[in-house]
Amino acid sequence: MCKEESMKADLTLQETLGGLRVYLEELAETGVDGLPLAAGVETSETASPGFISEATPETGRETLDEIRQSMGECGRCSLGDGRTNLVFGVGNPHARLVFVGEAPGRDEDLKGEPFVGEAGHLLTKIIQAMGFERSEVYICNVLKCRPPNNRDPLPSEVEACGSFMLRQVRSIGPQVIVALGRFAAQTLLSTNTPISKLRGQFHDYHGIPLMPTYHPAALLRDAALKRDVWEDMKQVMGLLGKEVSGKGK
Ligand code: URA
Repeated sequence: MCKEESMKADLTLQETLGGLRVYLEELAETGVDGLPLAAGVETSETASPGFISEATPETGRETLDEIRQSMGECGRCSLGDGRTNLVFGVGNPHARLVFVGEAPGRDEDLKGEPFVGEAGHLLTKIIQAMGFERSEVYICNVLKCRPPNNRDPLPSEVEACGSFMLRQVRSIGPQVIVALGRFAAQTLLSTNTPISKLRGQFHDYHGIPLMPTYHPAALLRDAALKRDVWEDMKQVMGLLGKEVSGKGK
């Protein structure tokens, strides 16, 4: 096999194993915690070092690097055709707090990092007002590539990409998630309820408390929403045992 074919085969194998992992995690949630081995299947003793056996031994979770690798040069939806960079996520792989936005915008696409434009600067200020450095939390989006003209993501794009965000969250194992804006909140909670009704209380996302709040871009358009966001963040800080100061008002 030539080098290029071997690299392609590696990528395909990693994508298949990544999909298998998500399937097994979903099975585990329904109470199935093991599958019978077919005759001749390698056990962990006989298996050669590979993708699954590289999961962090102490937690049994796949690492963020492994998830990124399994995305490869992603072309699962057409957004891959127009991107400059795939925007995977940034921050502490063991963060107690994860922020999830919608999808990269222009600045993020150019830099390959989420929330680096004007809305991103406001998010950084919110994070700091909560008593964290940006590097202490983890920030990602539902979609990893920029939709053209910042249009809303399509259901087919969420279908193709959303499982990576869930895998990121599972890898990190945060104590709280903040969903930024209508699209992220409604997608993570599988609901059409307006963000104004979702925000202000914790919801359950795969066993993790999730606080929906307004998107920082919405705060740039309407500063009056800042008060509500700060109320939401105070609840998040309370859950994380952070001292609530008057800083964010
Ligand atoms: N808006 C988002 O939802 N995500 C980003 O990364 C930037 C802007």
